[in-house]
Amino acid sequence: MSSYNYREIRTPIFEQSTLFARSIGELTDIVSKEMYTFLDRGQESITLRPEGTAAALRAYIQNNLGEQSPLTKLYYVGPMFRQERPQAGRLRQFHQFGAEAIGSSSPLLDVEMMVLPRDVYLQLSIEEMSLSINSVGCPVCRPKYKTILVAHLEKVFSKLSPESQARLRQNPLRVLDSKEEQDRELTKNAPLMKDFLCPECSVHFASVTAILGTLNVPYQIDGRLVRGLDYYTKTAFEITSTALGSQDALAGGGRYDLLVEELGGKPTPGVGFAAGMERLMMVLEKQGQIKSKPLLPLLYFVALDARSRSWAFVQASALRSKGISIELDYMERSAKAQMREANRQQAKYVIVVGESELTTGVARLKNMLTGDEQTIQLEKIEQALIST
Ligand code: HAM
Repeated sequence: MSSYNYREIRTPIFEQSTLFARSIGELTDIVSKEMYTFLDRGQESITLRPEGTAAALRAYIQNNLGEQSPLTKLYYVGPMFRQERPQAGRLRQFHQFGAEAIGSSSPLLDVEMMVLPRDVYLQLSIEEMSLSINSVGCPVCRPKYKTILVAHLEKVFSKLSPESQARLRQNPLRVLDSKEEQDRELTKNAPLMKDFLCPECSVHFASVTAILGTLNVPYQIDGRLVRGLDYYTKTAFEITSTALGSQDALAGGGRYDLLVEELGGKPTPGVGFAAGMERLMMVLEKQGQIKSKPLLPLLYFVALDARSRSWAFVQASALRSKGISIELDYMERSAKAQMREANRQQAKYVIVVGESELTTGVARLKNMLTGDEQTIQLEKIEQALIST
C-alpha cells in the first residue's frame, strides 16, 4: 500500500444501517438478506459493516478529507460481516484488505486498483489468477440498456429460475450474474451493457483497456460481470483464481463516481477494490505455501520440587523479557512427565532443576535434538543458550 502511496484508515466495525442501504443498494443480496443489523439501546438501527467502501466514504465526507487534497488515497484491512450460508471461501466474518482513491476520474486509477492487488498476489507467487473487467455504464446509458435487457429477458421469463425472476423486476442486470445453468443458457445471447455504452463511458473503458495493454497485464472482458453492489459506474472488475472452488473471486472492485454525492458529499468521483484475505490464504495453502509452524519453546525447565518450580518461574520471567522463549511445568507433574511434555512441545533444550542444582548453582543443559549435555552455571543460562 505504501508503494502506491495509500494511507490507512480505520473505521468503526459498525455504522448506521442507512449508510449501507444507501450505498450498496436496498435491493442487493447484501442489504436485503445478508447484513447483521440490530437496534442499539437508543433504538437506532446499526449494522456490522459488510464491506469497507461505504464506511471509508462516510469518513471522507464527515471529516472533509477532500479539502486537504484533491485526491485522497485510503486503504484498510479488517473484518467484514455478511450473513451468508457458510461454505468453503464464504464466511460470515471474513477479512478484507482494500483501497479507495477518491477525487479523480482518471482511468489510470481504475487500472491502479487492478494492478495493486495483482502485485500483492504476484509477490506471494499466486499462480493462475485472472482479471476480468467490464463497464456497467452510468445513468446516461444504463437506463436505456436496462429497458432493452428487460425486454429480452421477459421473452424467457417463465423459464428463468425463481431467483432470476425476482431479480428481473428488482435488479435486472444481476440476472446475467446467475450461477444457475438454465439462466446462463437462457441469457447466452442477452444484450450486454458494454455494447450500449454512452460515448463518455465508452472512451473511459477503451482507456482502461489501453493502459492495461501498455502495462502488459493480461485481462479478459466479461460482459456479464455485474458485481453484487449497486454503487458502480463505468469500470467493474474481479480477480479470480482457479485454485478456489465456486467462490473463486480473490478481489473485486470498480468505479463509483456518484457515490460520494449519494452519501451527502460534493460530487466526487472514486474507484476502489477489496480483496478477501481468507480466500488468499486458501490459495496459498493449496500451493503449499502456508506451513503451520508450531510455536516452539527454546528451553523447557523441568522442576523437581516446589522451590525449584518457583525458581524456574523467576528465571523464565527474566529470560522471556529478553525475548527468549521459555516454558515450564504448571501442572506439578513428575519429572518424567515433564520430560515427555518438553519432548512433545519440541523444546530444543531442557534444564532439570532440583535441590542439588539450586544448592550448587550448576545444572545440565540438554540438547533434545542431539542428546548432548553440557554443564552450565545457573547464573549464565542466557550466555549458554547464545553460545550453543
Ligand atoms: P466484494 O466483491 O463484495 O466487494 O468483496 C471483495 C472480496 O471480499 C471478494 O472478492 C472476496 O474475496 C471477499 N469476500 C466477500 N464476501 C466474502 C465472504 N462471505 N467470505 C469470504 N470472503 C468474502 C466489496 O466488498 C467492495 N467494497 C469492493 C470495492 C472497494 N469496490 C470499490 N471499492
